[in-house]
Amino acid sequence: MHSGDIRKQFLEFFASRGHAVVRSSSLIPDDPSVLLTTAGMQQFKKYYTSEADAHKDFGSLNTASVQKSFRTSDIDEVGDESHLTFFEMLGNFSFGGYFKKEAIQYAHGFITSVMNLPISYVTIFGGSHGVQKDEESRSIWNSLGVSDVREEGIDDVFWGPTGSSGPCGPTTEIYCRNAKGQYIEVWNIVFNEFFYPGSREELLSGSEKKLERLSTPGVDTGMGLERLAMIAQGVPTIFDTDLFNDLFDQFPSTLGEREHRIIADHARGACFLISDGVRPSNKDRGYILRKILRRLIVFEHRAGEAMNLFHSIAPLIVGKYREAYPELHLDTILLEWDKEKAKFLKTLTLGLKELQKLPTINEKAAFRLYESYGLPYEITKEIGGERAQSLTRVGFEKEFAHHQEVSRAGAEKKFGGHGLLLDTGELKAKDAAELAVVTRLHTTTHILQQALRSVLGTEVAQAGSDITAERTRFDFTFHRKMMPDEIKAVEDIINDVVRKDLPVSFLELPVEEAQRTGALYFFKEKYPDRVKVYYVGESLDSAFSKEFCGGPHVAHTGEIGPVKIVKEESCGAGTRRIRAVLLQ
Ligand code: SER
Repeated sequence: MHSGDIRKQFLEFFASRGHAVVRSSSLIPDDPSVLLTTAGMQQFKKYYTSEADAHKDFGSLNTASVQKSFRTSDIDEVGDESHLTFFEMLGNFSFGGYFKKEAIQYAHGFITSVMNLPISYVTIFGGSHGVQKDEESRSIWNSLGVSDVREEGIDDVFWGPTGSSGPCGPTTEIYCRNAKGQYIEVWNIVFNEFFYPGSREELLSGSEKKLERLSTPGVDTGMGLERLAMIAQGVPTIFDTDLFNDLFDQFPSTLGEREHRIIADHARGACFLISDGVRPSNKDRGYILRKILRRLIVFEHRAGEAMNLFHSIAPLIVGKYREAYPELHLDTILLEWDKEKAKFLKTLTLGLKELQKLPTINEKAAFRLYESYGLPYEITKEIGGERAQSLTRVGFEKEFAHHQEVSRAGAEKKFGGHGLLLDTGELKAKDAAELAVVTRLHTTTHILQQALRSVLGTEVAQAGSDITAERTRFDFTFHRKMMPDEIKAVEDIINDVVRKDLPVSFLELPVEEAQRTGALYFFKEKYPDRVKVYYVGESLDSAFSKEFCGGPHVAHTGEIGPVKIVKEESCGAGTRRIRAVLLQ
C-alpha cells in the first residue's frame, strides 16, 4: 500500500465512523512552552480538559488527523535504521465521544482488516502510582482474539502530561513484525482518564500532587506513518518505503548509507520547517533549523564543489508531499537554503581547514571551531571521525556553559564586584574554582525550590537566596516547621533529579510569554521585556523545574553530585530558611 493510500484509508476509516477530519496543525505550536509540534494531541489539549468544546468547533466529539511532527530527542540517532526528526502521525481522538472499547476495536479493525496485518502482541498498563492495572483493555483485546497481552510500567505505557500540567493516562500499544522479524511498536492508544496538576517528572517522582479524574475521559492515539508503511510494504527499514526510496538515487556515491539517511531526514525536515515559517537563527526552533541546514551544507560540500544536492532533492520532496501538505513552498525553501548556504560557506571552508589540522579534537577544540567558524557539534563530530572519538555532546555542552559563565563573570568583574570574580547578589565566587561550585549550587537551588513545592505544596515561594562556595541558603514562604520526613523527601527528590542527569537549558522569551510557560519567578522583581527561562529536563514542556533566571547553571544535573540538606529553621513570620551543601 502506497503511503498516500495509507493516509487516505486511515482518514476515511475514521470519517465513516463519525470522526471529523482535522488538518494537521503547524509545526510551530500555539503552546509557547513547547518549541515544536511533537504529537497529534497537542492541538487538541484543551478539548480534553473541557476548556474548549469539540462539538462546537468540529461538529463532533471525535476527530482524526495526519499530523506533521518534529522531535529533536533522537537527533543523534538519525542515520541508523529507524530514527527520524520529522515524521507523520496518524491519530484518532475522542473528547467524551467514546472510550476504551471502541478505541481498541477501531485500532484492531484498521490494522487487521484495512491494512491486513497480523498483530504480534499488545501491551497494557500494569498498574502503579495509584492507577489500577488495565484489566478492561486486556479483556477487550482478548474478546477480539488477541491473547498475547503484556503488562508494562509507567515509563512505557502511561502518556503525559505534556507541559507543566495536563491530561494523561494509561496506554495500550500494538506491536507488529517487520520484514526483518523485529517487533515494532506501531500504534499508541492513550486513555486520557486523568488530569495531573504537575509535570510528568513530578508524577514519576511520586510528588504529593494527586492524579485527578477528568470529568469526561478521552482517547488520543498516535501511529507513525513511516513505521506503518515499512510494515505494510514489507521492507526492512523506513528508508526503503516509498516515502524515501527514490530520493536515494540522487545521492552521491562518495557518501555512505548513514550519511544518505541523514540527508534524507534533514532535507525533509528542513522543507517542512521552512514552509511552516521557521527561519534559521541562533535561538530555539531557528537554531534547530540552522543545525540541520548546516549539516546538509557540509555533506554537500564534502560531496564536491559542483554538487547541488539540496536543489535536486527539495523538488522531489515537495512533489511527494504537496498533495497532502499544500503549504509546502519550494521557492521559499530554496531561497532560505541559498541564504543560509551563502552565509555559512564563507566560514565553513576555513573551519574545515582548521579542523583538518588538529591531531585530536576534544571539547575545547570543538567549542573553538563553533565559536570562530560556526561549525556545529554534529559536524565536528562527524568530520573529525576517529580524531573526535572522545568528543561527546555532553562534554561540548559543558564547555559551552563554561564559556557562558566565564564571559558573564568577566562582565561582572569589569563592572566592579568587590574583588569577587562573580557577584550577582545571589551568587558569590572569588575564583574559577568557587565559580564552578556556586554554579552547581545554583542549579541545586532551582531543583530545591521545585522539590519543596512538590512536597509542601504551592504555598512555597522564594523569599530570598544566597549562594556561596560553602552552601546554598534558600528562604521561602511556609507557615510551619518542616517535618524530618518532609526534609528527607525533598532531599530524595533532589538526588533523584541529579541521578537522572537531566539537561539544563534556557529559552529567551518575551516576559508575558515566559510567564505563560508556568515558570517560577520572583514577584517582587522588575523584569526586562525579554527574560531567560532556565529549565531542568529534556524540554521546557516536560521540565522538572523552570524559573526566570540569568544563570549560570550546570549543563547537566549529574554534575551536581549528591546533595544534603543541613539545616531548616525559621527566619521570620511565615518564612523558613533551608541550607543545603554538596557532598562531593
Ligand atoms: N500522544 C501519544 C503519542 O504521541 C498518542 O498519540 O504517542
